[in-house]
Amino acid sequence: MDIAVIGSNMVDLISYIDKMPKEGETLEAPDFKIGCGGKGANQAVAAAKLGSKVMMVTKVGDDIFADNTIKNLKSYGIDTEFTSKVPGTPSGVAPIFVDPESRNRILIIKGANQHLLPEDVDRSAEKLKKCSLIVLQLEIPLQTVYHAIEFGNKHGIPVILNPAPASKDLDFKYVCKSDFFIPNESELEILTGMPVENEKQIREAASTLIEKGLKNVIVTMGSRGVMWVTKEKTHTVESHKVAAIDTTGAGDAFIGCFAHFFVQNGDVLNAIKMATAFAALSVTKRGTQTSYPSVEELEQFLKLRV
Ligand code: RIB
Repeated sequence: MDIAVIGSNMVDLISYIDKMPKEGETLEAPDFKIGCGGKGANQAVAAAKLGSKVMMVTKVGDDIFADNTIKNLKSYGIDTEFTSKVPGTPSGVAPIFVDPESRNRILIIKGANQHLLPEDVDRSAEKLKKCSLIVLQLEIPLQTVYHAIEFGNKHGIPVILNPAPASKDLDFKYVCKSDFFIPNESELEILTGMPVENEKQIREAASTLIEKGLKNVIVTMGSRGVMWVTKEKTHTVESHKVAAIDTTGAGDAFIGCFAHFFVQNGDVLNAIKMATAFAALSVTKRGTQTSYPSVEELEQFLKLRV
């Protein structure tokens, strides 16, 4: 197994809106799409689409969404041995609002994701030990995230932590044991309490996390590109100019693709460059997982860019 994603799955309920209604107002919106999402599942699907062998440790509810979520993961070849149902609990859902400028606003109702516990990590231990990389986000209980980081450390498996959605409760005693910390600018702002208006400020904010003990901070900055900060250096990779129509799930596309290429040969800069292109392509289509390109589309895109 190449990659283990220990994390969330959600049902995305995406409304494409002209504007948000005011209190007490009813507005008609032009379109709606239902799809499989959740930061964990999105990252797993992105890596699997590129050819990585991926297992997912996750929890679904016992409602009408559950079987479809499992079926969807399987359709990408993802190992669902440790994907289980929680009786009497709804699946995670995410009402999402995408405006005409392709920006999104997301609510999450965690449902079954709230029941993914440290014991579930332990239950998958034999298979997990054989993975080359563990990928985590914050739509599951923090104690499970910490436990998974320690599991990775104990077994010499590198860990990516995507601190999304940002939580001020994050305990850096554990977080610093992850190998790659990948926030977007707004998560970086919440986690550090520092401004992130420009690249200088972003570098300063990321550097405070390096001072706390993190080894690699990779900040995804949307159309401004990606900044990789370590103790020794800062490297910025420019974004690709594309016609964006829906940015939902672009951060997850980046992480899944980064994980896929990092596992190939450990080349971090190459993985960032590939992930930047993959995420750029993802915003040119609607939806989350459904917007992720194939290997061929990614290769074709990069060929036209050189
Ligand atoms: O990052 C995008 C994802 O956030 C959506 O798929 C939604 O489910 C929420 O988890």
